Amino acid sequence: MPDDVVTMDKIVSLCKRRGFVFQSSEIYGGISSSYDYGHYGVLLKNNVKAQWWRSMLQERDDVVALDSAIIQHPKTWEASGHLAGFTDPLVDCRTCKLRFRADHLDVSACGKRPSKHPGETADCDLTEARDFNLMFETTVGPVKEEGSTVYLRPETAQGIFLNFRNYLQFSRKKPPFGIAQIGKSFRNEITPGNFIFRTREFEQMEMEFFVPPAEAQQWFEQWLAERRGWYLRLGIREDHLRLRAHEADELSHYSSGTSDLEYLFPIGWQELEGIANRGDFDLTQHAQHSGQKLEFVDTVSGERYIPHVIEPAAGADRALLAFLVDAYDEDEIEGEQRTVLRLHPLLAPVKVAILPLVRKDGQPEVARHIHAELRERFQAEYDEGGAIGRRYRRQDEIGTPWAVTVDHQTLEDDTVTLRDRDSLAQDRIAIAALADEIERRLRAPWTSPKSS
Ligand code: GAP
Repeated sequence: MPDDVVTMDKIVSLCKRRGFVFQSSEIYGGISSSYDYGHYGVLLKNNVKAQWWRSMLQERDDVVALDSAIIQHPKTWEASGHLAGFTDPLVDCRTCKLRFRADHLDVSACGKRPSKHPGETADCDLTEARDFNLMFETTVGPVKEEGSTVYLRPETAQGIFLNFRNYLQFSRKKPPFGIAQIGKSFRNEITPGNFIFRTREFEQMEMEFFVPPAEAQQWFEQWLAERRGWYLRLGIREDHLRLRAHEADELSHYSSGTSDLEYLFPIGWQELEGIANRGDFDLTQHAQHSGQKLEFVDTVSGERYIPHVIEPAAGADRALLAFLVDAYDEDEIEGEQRTVLRLHPLLAPVKVAILPLVRKDGQPEVARHIHAELRERFQAEYDEGGAIGRRYRRQDEIGTPWAVTVDHQTLEDDTVTLRDRDSLAQDRIAIAALADEIERRLRAPWTSPKSS
């Protein structure tokens, strides 16, 4: 069961209230399924992506980075199978003019579906299902003519396959090795929804790991464990994360085995990330369509083969939503209700807030000085407006793990209090030791207090 404190409505409302995520184009009435990230949303998403890069690049020496173009040669999508196969079955309702995914249609509800007019219901009159390609189409150049059609990429993965040969030739990579990238993808989803869970424009964090064919299964299992561990190390509660292997009829056209990491969102268990064994499908297809050899040749042994590919494919927006949901909490302090984001400190948009207890007696000056020093090492915020309790709540609500308070004692002995968002402990600490102490806490292993 999803935990009952957090609902999607509460997350949406917090995101808007505190400037994490806004409905896009709101002054024009909004545009469905498009969202803009505000200040704290940008900081949080950057942290999610930084932790992903860190786990791929800094903590390993067998993965390298790529940033490929969004618009690729249109033959890419012929070869990848997306032109023919990246479709959802779509039905239109002639009465209410709404569109539905035929495979997600609740047939029992079909006879009396709400009409577009509030307060009315109308009989649904559905068309036959037809395949609807999810790729966004556009044209290059000023004239729309034959050959000018291109597509916005529906996955970042293909940019990696198109560059595979470059990494063999110029970077002298040898399987097993991976190429990782983060970037925007676009899908003309028939039924986007649930806030940033499913949108038409979203960011993916994908890595294609090229391996000798005989090692594919072993690497598939290693990546399942590695990716599960990544979410757990960043504080996702273990009982809210599970692995689910795809049934044969669920597999994508390229996959010979996929498992989803699923998270228990307020809308139930849903895919967070897919880990697929893509075999040699993509390299073989691109070799055939481009006429180029896409294989690894061992110059010493003469061995040659088309590597198989293991792909962990995550969504940055969906991961951010899972971290927010997992962190959201409400409690009561001294009779006052508080909303708190119990985010892993590494993900928290702001690491430390610096607060003078009062706006006089030289406290703001000292606090500003501490702020100037701490911001050299951490995302830090200075706040002197309003009662101290209200300022703590404001920081709790955006997930700031620590608050430094400058008080009258600070001016006597150069110490401050360091308040912990979760335990509420306030430790007295010398200003000179502050930055190192925050660094130490930031690097310490962390488990969500919501687990206990
Ligand atoms: N290259 C494989 C691939 O794209 P996918 O399961 O379609 O696989 C991978 O997508 C991840 O991208 C998903 O697990 C999800 O986190 C994210 N994702 C996919 N479609 C999305 C959408 N419409 N909105 C937000 N995130 C999406």
